[in-house]
Amino acid sequence: MASEPVSVKEFQELARQVLPKMHYDFYAGGAEDEHTLRENVEAFSRITIRPRILIDVSHIDLSTTILGYNISAPIMIAPTGMHKLAHPEGEIATAKAAAACKTIMVLSFSSTCTIEEVASCCNAVRFFQLYVFKSREVSARLVQRAERNGYKAIVLTVDLPRLGRREADIKNKLVKPQLKNFDAVISTEVSSDERSNLQFFSRALDSSLCWKDINWLRSITKLPILIKGVLVPEDAIKAVEVGVDGIIVSNHGARQLDYTPASISALDEVVSAVGGKVPVLFDGGVRRGTDVFKALALGAQAVLIGRPVIFGLAAKGEYGVKQVIQMLSDELELTMALAGCPSVKDINRSHVRTKHQRPL
Ligand code: FNR
Repeated sequence: MASEPVSVKEFQELARQVLPKMHYDFYAGGAEDEHTLRENVEAFSRITIRPRILIDVSHIDLSTTILGYNISAPIMIAPTGMHKLAHPEGEIATAKAAAACKTIMVLSFSSTCTIEEVASCCNAVRFFQLYVFKSREVSARLVQRAERNGYKAIVLTVDLPRLGRREADIKNKLVKPQLKNFDAVISTEVSSDERSNLQFFSRALDSSLCWKDINWLRSITKLPILIKGVLVPEDAIKAVEVGVDGIIVSNHGARQLDYTPASISALDEVVSAVGGKVPVLFDGGVRRGTDVFKALALGAQAVLIGRPVIFGLAAKGEYGVKQVIQMLSDELELTMALAGCPSVKDINRSHVRTKHQRPL
């Protein structure tokens, strides 16, 4: 591709060209038949936009506030693991791009730069994503390190009691690089080879984690807690009852349970169940500004993007991540102008139509 990429799709193609197949497959792939992976993107195409006319759109304001933090557009960076497989600067490049774009980065538990390195490289607002290990001590120490280093919230990912079956990774015999945050917290008896093994990660996860453990998490941190991986209204109601500070509607980018609905199909019901009591964020399949617009119309306060960030990072490092976020922001800005929404708060349920022959 000789010219500059003009869409997330073109960034994906660039990433495919520059990455070793094993790493590209790890980033791009999903679980089992990848039905949900395809649906995450395709379900957006079944939602149409209902534009309003003759509204003053000479000035468009994309800015919004998430948990009290101002961001330039409702597009945040989702936690994704192992950025050094995409680019040598890893999560540091991603964080610098987040700071430049004035958005929030959620640092993955499975990062290849440490909590401290990412905190000290720039002034981006950062949240820390947590998986809970059987050794609660390991998780507690990570949460406390995040809090000490100025991370502003804990994102507890709850859709991974075990690792989903990603067949490309099995075939490619994916070897994980060292997950840097564990160096100081995992017993020295565990060799670095063993730590790099996917099975080790899976075995270490605490699959007994349940609702009462939110209290445990609250007892070890003062930070707000968001739970990521909610797909049904019953769980959204429970989450509000146990007092979480926010919900992220997500199917983990279709990498966990195949044949869950597309993430965007779950949003409407969850938003209704939550009834505005806590913010609802959304991720899964966002590839266009129109997708961001649709998610906001269905009640999300902001979206998070996972793979688009990785594709930008692989293609052009920090600059590529900035370009991807800027491109999606520009597309959203144009969508808002053409749909008659001068600001983010003007976007509402009446701006989309979801009733089609095929269910969403
Ligand atoms: C993820 N995701 C993820 N989620 C999480 O809570 N912790 C993690 O470490 C990871 N790691 C991860 C790696 C890769 C390569 C991908 C693609 C995804 C899921 C991620 O946060 C988010 O839910 C999805 O990526 C959103 O879908 P899109 O934007 O990739 O379509």
